[in-house]
Amino acid sequence: MSQAVLKIGFVGAGAIHFGRPEVPWAHASRIEKIGGLEVVGIVDPDTCRSDEVLKERLASRDYGHMYTNCRLLTDYRELLAMKPDVVFIGIPPAFRGSPKSGKNLELEFTRAGIHAFVEKPLSLVPPEEFSPYVSSIAEACQTNDVVLSVGYMFRYHAAVLKMKELIAQHGGKVMAFNARYYFAYTEGVNKYWFNTEFSGGPIVEQATHFCDLARYIVGDVDMTSLHTIMLNDSDEGGAGKLRHVTAEDEIPSDKRIPRVTLSHWKFVNGGLGTLMHSVTLPGSRYQATIDVQLDGLQLSLIDPYEPTSILRVRNIEGPDPNKDQDFVFENDDTYLRELDTFMKAVRQRKQLLIKSSYEDAAKTYELTWAIRRQGEVKK
Ligand SMILES: NC(=O)c1ccc[n+]([C@@H]2O[C@H](COP(=O)([O-])OP(=O)(O)OC[C@H]3O[C@@H](n4cnc5c(N)ncnc54)[C@H](O)[C@@H]3O)[C@@H](O)[C@H]2O)c1
Repeated sequence: MSQAVLKIGFVGAGAIHFGRPEVPWAHASRIEKIGGLEVVGIVDPDTCRSDEVLKERLASRDYGHMYTNCRLLTDYRELLAMKPDVVFIGIPPAFRGSPKSGKNLELEFTRAGIHAFVEKPLSLVPPEEFSPYVSSIAEACQTNDVVLSVGYMFRYHAAVLKMKELIAQHGGKVMAFNARYYFAYTEGVNKYWFNTEFSGGPIVEQATHFCDLARYIVGDVDMTSLHTIMLNDSDEGGAGKLRHVTAEDEIPSDKRIPRVTLSHWKFVNGGLGTLMHSVTLPGSRYQATIDVQLDGLQLSLIDPYEPTSILRVRNIEGPDPNKDQDFVFENDDTYLRELDTFMKAVRQRKQLLIKSSYEDAAKTYELTWAIRRQGEVKK
């Protein structure tokens, strides 16, 4: 039986939706592969960018037809009035995720009965002010039977699914969770990321993926146990100076992102967690590793951002407790799995298929703010 063609709108013509040469993300290229849709509008005040993007899409032999009726818009309200079936909201958090009129896109679209896929971080508003907004959105989704997903794509990564499976098989509680996320900053960076005013800083904006995995794999964090220290640009010893940053000249020192953030905490279930984020690496290749330890089991997820990532397992139940076993995930497209799940959930109107709901993502948002605030106090 042929399925209905879904009308799609994009808010934001930037990298998350339409890619850039050096990054693995580009939601449009995944949903084009999934098919069964037509793109009716792309909203971006930067019309040079949206025009360029549309021309590129129309030129595709395989997918150009999906854009034949696409309009270029400069305000999301124009898209809202067109009543698409689905909207992808991928603009910097300073322009959305807020109860303020003109920034409450998620609420307006879900109230209009439009399914939505929203990028992380959810907002830049302090969590106390953000929380009533989250409740309004949950209510709008429920009233209008709308599916809403947040872009925590690592929840769909094959290696993360395997980690969850191995932990369940092994039994017992996670004792230690250790995430390291080293940001490569000298090539192809987004200017918003370097200004805490626009990005919320590197924990709220980037390491949020690993804070989310901490919650997804281990559980919620006891916020009262958190401790964070940061190395800043303004550090008296000069250790925080970056020599190859090009996007920072105009940014006052107190708005520049911390170069190193170290945080640790206790999970509600008793295990301990640590996170280290740094802005030091050359080029554009990030390095990320997560170690999860239970009594008799260690799982190390190595380079989940790379096309090939490894899950290294040391298990008392394996043939040799001193040896590692590697599970290699080649070309695992976690973005494709995430978006395919979303489109299925939309067609079936089944929010339960979604691994990252808005309400759950709001808890990750709260955790990232707690980490950030703890570190900023001690500047
Ligand atoms: N899940 C992931 O792996 C991932 C990866 C990259 C980015 N992101 C997230 O996606 C969001 C966007 O990031 P990006 O890399 O695409 O940024 P970008 O700078 O490449 O693009 C952002 C675009 O949004 C446009 N814009 C700004 N305000 C707007 C508004 N009110 N309406 C419509 N368009 C507007 C800008 O003109 C720009 O073209 C961020 O929240 C980022 O954290 C997620």
